[in-house]
Amino acid sequence: MSIFEDKFRDLKGEFLMAKSPRALVAGNWKMNGKKASLKEIRTLAAKLKDRKPKCNVMICPPATLLGEAKTAAKGSKVKIGGQDCHTAQSGAHTGDISAEMLKNTGVTAVIVGHSERRADHGETDKTVCAKAEAAHAAGLTAIICVGETLEQYKANQTLKVMTSQIKGSLPATATAKNTVIAYEPVWAIGSGLTPTVKEVAKVHTHIRKRLVAALGEDEAAPIAILYGGSVKPNNAVELMAAANVNGALVGGASLKAVDFLGIIAAYE
Ligand code: 13P
Repeated sequence: MSIFEDKFRDLKGEFLMAKSPRALVAGNWKMNGKKASLKEIRTLAAKLKDRKPKCNVMICPPATLLGEAKTAAKGSKVKIGGQDCHTAQSGAHTGDISAEMLKNTGVTAVIVGHSERRADHGETDKTVCAKAEAAHAAGLTAIICVGETLEQYKANQTLKVMTSQIKGSLPATATAKNTVIAYEPVWAIGSGLTPTVKEVAKVHTHIRKRLVAALGEDEAAPIAILYGGSVKPNNAVELMAAANVNGALVGGASLKAVDFLGIIAAYE
């Protein structure tokens, strides 16, 4: 099934159309990118001028480049986001960056709870929840990441892990306007491996149900649920067509504008 058939199904009723999420294709540059990389944002911005993808487009560069990335994207469809924020808005936390400080650079969103932060910095669901709440308080969209490890996947624990991560990481401040969920199986990140389209659809539908249970249908239905983990131009169309997949969170393939545009093409 193509995303256009999916779209057609949504268009069957106005009620559904009003509630369906606006897709988002976001690039997470992780700890990559120097000044020279800003040309990729400029290229992306220029190429998107004449294109009308049915999705929002975002790049999350490292904090060192946020201000210049905003300038590079100025006047274009490219939004800029942060990769992490502290739970507090200011204070004695050497080396950390708050959601208010991110907002002050002009960004509109921040990723929280990426599995690399959960693993490298011991972030728990509770920390992630507090970070998402801080993002909301600063007026930012929180892109809350969830995902099972290979061990959990092999033990058939994926849905159970999603239930507990969504419950633990989603703050009471979450609404349709300020929250995006990114499902990123840890074992699919940077590995070239992905779950099957059927598996992705199953997990995303489960996440949608958990969001409905937590927030009610009106708030939960328009929340975009992104898939992340080895999304490339050659697998984006089939992954994006899966039920309840509303975009992608892309690592490696977001570093070069040409690759990222190949993924955005799934929404054209
Ligand atoms: P890759 O696209 O490099 O697998 O990374 C995915 C990711 O972790 C995005 O946040």
